[in-house]
Amino acid sequence: MAFRLAAALPFLLLLAHAQKIGTAVPEVHPKLVTQTCTTSGGCVDRQTLLVTDALSRPFHKVGDPSVPCTPLNTTLCPDAATCAANCELEGVEYGSLGVLTAGRAVTLRQYLFDGDAFTSVSPRLYLLAEDGMNYELLKLNGQELSYDVDVSQLGCGMNGALYLSEMDASGSRSDLNPAGAQYGTGYCDAQCFNVSFINGLPNLNNSGACCNEMDIWEANAMATAMTPHTCSGVGSFLCSGDECGKTDAGVCDHDGCGVNPFRAGLKDFYGPGKTVDTTKPFTVVTQFLTDSGNASTGSGTLAEIRRLYVQDGKVIQNEPVPSNTNQLDSTSPNVNDASGGSVTQAFCTAANASQYLRLGGMDGMGASLERGMVLVFSIWNSAGDFMNWLDSGEAGPCSNTSGDPARIVAETPEVSVTFSNIRWGDIGSTFNASSSPLRNGTNAAFLSSNAKSGTAPHTAAASDIEVNSVYTSVECG
Ligand SMILES: *[C@@H]1O[C@H](CO)[C@@H](O)[C@H](O)[C@H]1NC(C)=O
Ligand SMILES: *[C@@H]1O[C@H](CO)[C@@H](O)[C@H](O)[C@H]1NC(C)=O
Ligand SMILES: *[C@@H]1O[C@H](CO)[C@@H](O)[C@H](O)[C@H]1NC(C)=O
Ligand SMILES: *[C@@H]1O[C@H](CO)[C@@H](O)[C@H](O)[C@H]1NC(C)=O
Ligand SMILES: *[C@@H]1O[C@H](CO)[C@@H](O)[C@H](O)[C@H]1NC(C)=O
Ligand SMILES: *[C@@H]1O[C@H](CO)[C@@H](O)[C@H](O)[C@H]1NC(C)=O
Ligand SMILES: *[C@@H]1O[C@H](CO)[C@@H](O)[C@H](O)[C@H]1NC(C)=O
Ligand SMILES: *[C@@H]1O[C@H](CO)[C@@H](O)[C@H](O)[C@H]1NC(C)=O
Repeated sequence: MAFRLAAALPFLLLLAHAQKIGTAVPEVHPKLVTQTCTTSGGCVDRQTLLVTDALSRPFHKVGDPSVPCTPLNTTLCPDAATCAANCELEGVEYGSLGVLTAGRAVTLRQYLFDGDAFTSVSPRLYLLAEDGMNYELLKLNGQELSYDVDVSQLGCGMNGALYLSEMDASGSRSDLNPAGAQYGTGYCDAQCFNVSFINGLPNLNNSGACCNEMDIWEANAMATAMTPHTCSGVGSFLCSGDECGKTDAGVCDHDGCGVNPFRAGLKDFYGPGKTVDTTKPFTVVTQFLTDSGNASTGSGTLAEIRRLYVQDGKVIQNEPVPSNTNQLDSTSPNVNDASGGSVTQAFCTAANASQYLRLGGMDGMGASLERGMVLVFSIWNSAGDFMNWLDSGEAGPCSNTSGDPARIVAETPEVSVTFSNIRWGDIGSTFNASSSPLRNGTNAAFLSSNAKSGTAPHTAAASDIEVNSVYTSVECG
């Protein structure tokens, strides 16, 4: 008897202290096959998976899904340990979040039709490693990342994003947060993400979750931006007060050092019918070139973040064309490029990206890429600024009111983005000029199944939508 009790004790302690995993909805991570590539060996499939952020899941009183757990409910969540004991995190059905995967492709939708109206789901997803337990850490210093994207259904004010955050690989798993990455905890970014739960625990002291962020892709059919953001700390860390803000007391660079071809004066480069024709899918290649003179080894200091596109069998380099005229065939960084064709220290200095430079600049970003970062996919719009920094005024051809979410949902509610064929590895190994992406959106069947006239899909819970509007409004630049 005594023996059996002793054997059961660790389990009982776990139940008493750990935030629980709900049983109402099983969590089935969507599969998304990706590839890693080497110059010598070609590309190899990886059976990676996706997981949605913890905040887009129901988190409720144990056994009672009708009572949400929030830090405002001081009975359930007066402190982290009590909250963890009282509350459970549920699985989600990914279709209900506007997410569909098919082989190597994932489609994200901003809105879903519930039979009466379109409601915002605005999913954010993380790439899980093959173990399904931890995030995949991409170590891209001296490497490149490629993917195909279809932005044809993404108009003014929308942002279909693919980026990296230096999250903890385990999702900041802890005794009080045993689910960790498996349930999408541990998000952080260079805006010092400030929400009701951080690392799976209630945020009771108004902290923000900060970390280095590399915005590889924030774009719609009209405009595109690539923006590194640095922070003073390593990995994921908490800020409080002025540390979380934009002043010189801030620990992260909120504005970043961004490259946007339209802002650089190239108004005919990116868009419908332009050099990169956004009415059709294309391949996006992002190279993180180091100054070692041998970028393929991955060692060395990050000197240039270079963008290439591949469409209809042609490689298109980001313009304006840097002074290194041999750029396409070269794996050497063009460190003196201040033209806006690439992100370099010279460009960021000319652009007066003072917070980026103060918080480490290219060296800081390269160190984060060397340690490893987590791949994030999202789709969002913003009631706060209508995404004008991305596609309006100096940044793009959109009017400064076309990105109003109320207008988007009324006029083009079926907005979506599809990312596919995600691969990373040695410089030059992840793309072939001769291979063009498919012309048709891979997930056309899913998109039409949720057309207004089609079958009504699932609706997100009201709490999910509230949470989503919180994170979409805090992220910017
Ligand atoms: C807070 O939690 C208590 C205990 O479960 C519950 O009775 C109450 O309804 C909750 N309050 C709110 C506002 O949800
Ligand atoms: C806020 O709470 C977190 C989690 O309990 C803790 O790690 C952090 O040190 C606290 N911050 C301050 C400023 O007290
Ligand atoms: C976090 O967000 C709340 C609510 O928007 C705000 O009042 C608070 O100042 C923010 N805290 C930090 C540290 O940014
Ligand atoms: C670059 O690194 C690769 C891999 O280690 C090595 O095979 C190659 O010889 C190096 N090239 C130069 C020029 O150092
Ligand atoms: C650079 O930006 C800082 C504020 O971030 C400002 O004080 C300074 O005047 C700017 N310098 C130039 C040359 O624009
Ligand atoms: C849009 O631009 C007009 C003209 O410059 C300005 O008056 C208005 O405040 C702007 N609106 C928004 C939402 O930025
Ligand atoms: C590029 O083409 C070669 C030769 O056909 C092939 O072996 C390789 O897998 C291709 N790489 C990619 C990334 O498609
Ligand atoms: C694209 O889709 C259309 C309509 O579904 C189909 O007829 C056509 O064959 C597709 N083209 C390719 C290249 O898959």
